[in-house]
Amino acid sequence: MKIAIVLGTRPEIIKLSPIIRKCEENGEDYYILHTNQHYSPEMDSIFFEELGLPKPKYNLNVGSGSQGEQIGRMLKGIEKVFKDDCPDIVIVQGDANSVFAGAFVASRLGIKIAHVEAGLRSYDRNMPEEINRSLTDAISDFLFCPTKKQKEILLTEGISREKIFVVGNTIVDAVYWAKNNETKIIERENLERRDYCLMTLHRVENVDNKKMLEKILYYISSLKEEKIIFPLHPRTKKMLGRFNFDLPQNIRTINPVGFLDMITLEKNAKAILTDSGGVQEEACILKVPCITLRTTTERPETIECGGNMLMKENANEDFELMIKKERDWKNPFGEGKTGEKILSLLKNN
Ligand code: UD1
Ligand code: UDP
Repeated sequence: MKIAIVLGTRPEIIKLSPIIRKCEENGEDYYILHTNQHYSPEMDSIFFEELGLPKPKYNLNVGSGSQGEQIGRMLKGIEKVFKDDCPDIVIVQGDANSVFAGAFVASRLGIKIAHVEAGLRSYDRNMPEEINRSLTDAISDFLFCPTKKQKEILLTEGISREKIFVVGNTIVDAVYWAKNNETKIIERENLERRDYCLMTLHRVENVDNKKMLEKILYYISSLKEEKIIFPLHPRTKKMLGRFNFDLPQNIRTINPVGFLDMITLEKNAKAILTDSGGVQEEACILKVPCITLRTTTERPETIECGGNMLMKENANEDFELMIKKERDWKNPFGEGKTGEKILSLLKNN
């Protein structure tokens, strides 16, 4: 069985790393196709190096652009690779444009598709990710769901039961791999453990929308917490400049950090404020209270277990509520063996 792993963005590299490492370990016949949707070293190569991943066999150098340009370049490049070096199965993960492009080309060429992190839904069609994941699920042959909840969603959408597997989320494997390798970022940034908050923000519906971005910045500025560390996503940096917005005094920006630095920052934070999918999960796994800077989440398990809440109107009320909680919730995303489960299911089905 020849496997092609298609990836393109920071979270895909991180969440596919347990599967890639297992492929290496088992000596599988596989290759990595990188669309290069993310290309800045701090969004891309740093993760290959840190996570000990082999260099992609193919790199399409797609980069940034309008949705149509970006996806169009991906479709063209992926089709050429798959025609020249035809895999039996394509693995994609999550909901970025690279995921949809990889799955779409595979479906047209009659190649089997495995979707890791299938069945998540925010039911917010303004999110490009919601469209990407719904379309990818509709054409996938193996749908790997983090929890039972996604299986139920997929069944209501008419996906046949035999295609659906509940396996946990590979982010647990990645976090367990990283969490005992603390870096020196706390010292380097002059922070004290549990004395700062960590923030990330990059969703298009938050940062490309002037009113929404203003609302979130107001929410953060009204928070009494004085030390909020904010690794700045390149999209957000671009949009803050375009809108000519200054950040509130209690925010300190830093460049995007590597995964080990990020896990160290998360683990030692008093609380996390984020609109990221992966960071909501990591906060939940590391038992750090999280406030999600959105009105919906496709990760409701993080709220149901008590580790997360959606932002309301008053930042200090939200913060008090979360910070008071006992950090005794159970991680709903599995035991950290999802990567190997997925590979073994693919080989035996
Ligand atoms: C993409 C995904 C999003 C995911 C995020 C992870 C889609 C539709 N969105 O959003 O689901 O959560 O990745 O971080 O696929 N840029 C750089 N360097 C880079 C990459 C981007 O400077 O390496 C800047 C460019 O100005 C670019 C902007 O960031 O226009 C947005 O990049 P893009 O890949 O289009 O989407 P993300 O916002 O990163
Ligand atoms: N991350 C990182 N450095 C950063 C910010 C995030 O390593 O400066 C990691 C984070 O730990 C998580 C992943 O990137 O594993 C989340 O990616 P992102 O928030 O960009 O995308 P999303 O998960 O929302 O799709």
